[in-house]
Amino acid sequence: MKEKLTKIREIYIEEINNATSSENLEDIRVKVLGKKGELTLVLRDMGKLSKEERPEMGKLANEVREAIEVSLAGQKEKIIEIEYEKMFENEAIDITLPGKKTPFGSHHPLNIVVERLNDIFIGLGFTVEEGPEIEWAEYNFDHLNIPKEHTSRDLQDTFYVNDEMVLRTQTSPIQVRTMMKRKPPIRILAPGRVYRSDEIDATHSPVFHQAEGLVVDEGITMSDLKGTLDLFAKEMFGPDTKTKFRPHQFYFTEPSAEMDVTCFACNGKGCRVCQNTGWIEILGCGMVHPNVLEVCGIDPKKYSGFAFGMGLDRIAMIKYGISDLRLMFENDIRFLKQFK
Ligand code: DAH
Repeated sequence: MKEKLTKIREIYIEEINNATSSENLEDIRVKVLGKKGELTLVLRDMGKLSKEERPEMGKLANEVREAIEVSLAGQKEKIIEIEYEKMFENEAIDITLPGKKTPFGSHHPLNIVVERLNDIFIGLGFTVEEGPEIEWAEYNFDHLNIPKEHTSRDLQDTFYVNDEMVLRTQTSPIQVRTMMKRKPPIRILAPGRVYRSDEIDATHSPVFHQAEGLVVDEGITMSDLKGTLDLFAKEMFGPDTKTKFRPHQFYFTEPSAEMDVTCFACNGKGCRVCQNTGWIEILGCGMVHPNVLEVCGIDPKKYSGFAFGMGLDRIAMIKYGISDLRLMFENDIRFLKQFK
């Protein structure tokens, strides 16, 4: 038995010292100290020894167990250290590698214009409204005083969804919607997408953008219209901008006008941007027609108002010197990233 014990010590301590992983070490521990382990089995045979032999063998067996346990513990520490080192090596991050850059986006020129517009009019006490892009023909035309026979209602010009619904051809129906649900004082700005059956070219697109404005209250006059829009032009295009109102005709306003601003590129002297006129046409406007007020349930004897509508793509193109409308819709990053 003595030999057996010494052998066990010799063999297992060597095995333990050669172990290279925690699993490996655990296997060895089970093989020698486990329930059916080699040392355990020897200890079980202790009963078979004579009384004289027993103390000596018992002592030796304990020494062997202790020695094995001490080596197990010692090797375990070494292995943990090795395993940690391996882990550190495997999971090491090379902080000298250059990082991956997330490129900064930029705002679409149209959104820059809309945001500036919102800022200007919110500053004047307006609220920003929206309306549906699929609109009742009644709201898009009839309630705006546009006669049944008007050419803009033609199937050639307007996308009809069915007999009663169109893709709105202008943001003006938002005037109707607002006046129907709210009573004066009303001050709204309503930017949005509009649709017309146009062929695509450098200045036309079947989808484009407008912003509508509407003010209704007691005692609103043409001078409120002029003052508001003149201030808007100076905020939008620079403080030296001058405005000019030319008579025009719209069905939902009377009187109506178109507003020009002095060319921001040449300050009104005449250049390519303004086709040598010094002026750039910006929007349509006028005093809300009494028929429109009436159909929306607002008493035209008590209230009056002004309205305006502008093409946002056009304004963005003028402001940024963009020569082709198609660029606005193509989402080419080389184009878009220029607008910071
Ligand atoms: N809706 C008109 C258009 O698309 C623009 C317009 C003109 C709007 C005069 C108005 C206005 O509110 O008063 O051509």
